[in-house]
Amino acid sequence: MEISQAHARELEKQQQRKEALRVACGTAFAGCSSLFFEAGCGHGHWLTSYAEAHPEQVCVGIDLIALRVRKALAKKDKRGLKNLHFFKAELGEFLEVLPEGLRLDSSILLFPDPWPKARHHRRRMVQHTLLDVLARRTLPGGHFYFRTDDRAYFDWTIEHLEENAYWEIDPSHPWPHERETYFQGLMDAYDSVVARKVETN
Ligand SMILES: C[S@@+](CC[C@H](N)C(=O)[O-])C[C@H]1O[C@@H](n2cnc3c(N)ncnc32)[C@H](O)[C@@H]1O
Repeated sequence: MEISQAHARELEKQQQRKEALRVACGTAFAGCSSLFFEAGCGHGHWLTSYAEAHPEQVCVGIDLIALRVRKALAKKDKRGLKNLHFFKAELGEFLEVLPEGLRLDSSILLFPDPWPKARHHRRRMVQHTLLDVLARRTLPGGHFYFRTDDRAYFDWTIEHLEENAYWEIDPSHPWPHERETYFQGLMDAYDSVVARKVETN
């Protein structure tokens, strides 16, 4: 099948972007075996506070918006946190280039864009493909933490977790850390869910 020149250029740019990210991850995570991961970290408030409280853990946050990642990096630098990394990256691309041997301790998604219209639901970050990839990369005993102000997105996430063979909702597991995010500060109310990776023999 022939692809247009514009499409071919876009694919090439994507390849270059992924290669640069692969090299950056290889350098940042050399000698490291597992990470605490935040997808869509925004301005980095939550993960900076978490990393400061858990110096023994290596933490990584990613976001699509460069300005937000710069603000997150400024927080990390101000506190001199060596165990914290932020990258401007798209979620799927990041998980694709993350060094294969590297595992996730746990992952968190805080106030992701809700995409309320049905025709946009496929843009939501929570999808079975994401839950499958996260489960494959997560260490035994690892968790997936999710919080949103959007009730429909909360229900969607519960449904996906209930349907997914690799995760089970773990209501008694504590929330890992409390620090208001930028978007949390704008919301009156929110819901949280914690899921544990299912052990397979
Ligand atoms: C509503 S904001 C929430 C930011 C932060 N978690 C908070 O609570 O303040 C959602 C964030 O997810 C990021 N985002 C959306 N889709 C993404 C994707 N596919 N990969 C990485 N980041 C993404 C957006 O750029 C945005 O900063």
